[in-house]
Amino acid sequence: MAEKDKEEVIDSPKVIDSPEVVDIETLPGVGPKTAEKLEEAGFIDLMALATAPVREVADAADLGEATARKIVNEARSRLNMNFLTGIELMEKNDSMTYVTTGSNEFDKLLGGKGIESQSITEVFGKFGSGKSQLAFQLCVTVQLPEKDGGLDGDAILIDSENTFRTRRIDELARHRGLDPKKVLSRIHVARAFSTDHQMLLAEKIPDLIEKKGRPIKIIIIDSLTGLFRAEYIGRGTLADRQQKLNKHLHLLQRLADRYNIAVFVTNQAISRPDVFFGDPTTAVGGNILAHASTYRLYLRKSRGDKRIARLIDSPCLPDGECIFRVTEKGIED
Ligand code: GTP
Ligand code: MG
Repeated sequence: MAEKDKEEVIDSPKVIDSPEVVDIETLPGVGPKTAEKLEEAGFIDLMALATAPVREVADAADLGEATARKIVNEARSRLNMNFLTGIELMEKNDSMTYVTTGSNEFDKLLGGKGIESQSITEVFGKFGSGKSQLAFQLCVTVQLPEKDGGLDGDAILIDSENTFRTRRIDELARHRGLDPKKVLSRIHVARAFSTDHQMLLAEKIPDLIEKKGRPIKIIIIDSLTGLFRAEYIGRGTLADRQQKLNKHLHLLQRLADRYNIAVFVTNQAISRPDVFFGDPTTAVGGNILAHASTYRLYLRKSRGDKRIARLIDSPCLPDGECIFRVTEKGIED
């Protein structure tokens, strides 16, 4: 059994060609000090540098603009930023996989099949809006066979709010006719205690995939931003916080691409005091997070167990809303 599992695992994480995984220290003009500064600012690979404004790179590493431009240009040329043909893109899209949320309506809002691999899906909303419930649900549905909307895969959950409960997973598994013990054995949970710790945990994910050979199909962070908010208080620290968050998000996107994994993150919502008309609720994380997440959903409470999800700013899907429910069985229509 264990042997069989192992075999499955080794070829299941699909390695998508990622030329950006190159040590940035190999770029001309980037010594160890500069590399460290750049990495601290979130420029951890060629792709990050190649797509960054020159000014930002210069500021991040205290470089002159000319030097920064040289670095960015070199990153661009090394990246071989070729145009892909429509057919090549189609093939890349064909390799995408999906995990059902358990609600048809919710899946439909996301294009039909649920949470997509190679993408970051972010849900934000106030307390009790169902963010953690969705996270738990995905830990279970990812394990379902493909015919039932799963990927027969393992889940990684980074829990920064100490809300993970095995009892709840047990319940969700039973409702799906799955063996709760087996389900729990395929969820890799780590509690994060600080932003540094959270980032380190994410950096350890390749080990879990490559050394332990687990068929990880979804990475969940609940919540992505909680510790960042708690540690960086006040205006003056905002830039530092955003840089760090940017780095974290870059890594997550890289994991999503490299291993063809879905990334699902939760985010807190805050009320903006300056909005007088309409819903003043906004997501934490600013533009950095808004740009990094491929799918961004706003969850809010409705009557009883009903919740409303609104898709915001998706690159390929119309904005829209759906109603789903949070019940003892999990997420449902
Ligand atoms: P914060 O983390 O506090 O920001 O909120 P959240 O969005 O993560 O909320 P969460 O997903 O934990 O939703 C909590 C809500 O889910 C509760 O208020 C309940 O309404 C519902 N819920 C949680 N567990 C159960 C359950 O076992 N049965 C039912 N019927 N509802 C549940
Ligand atoms: Mg929660």
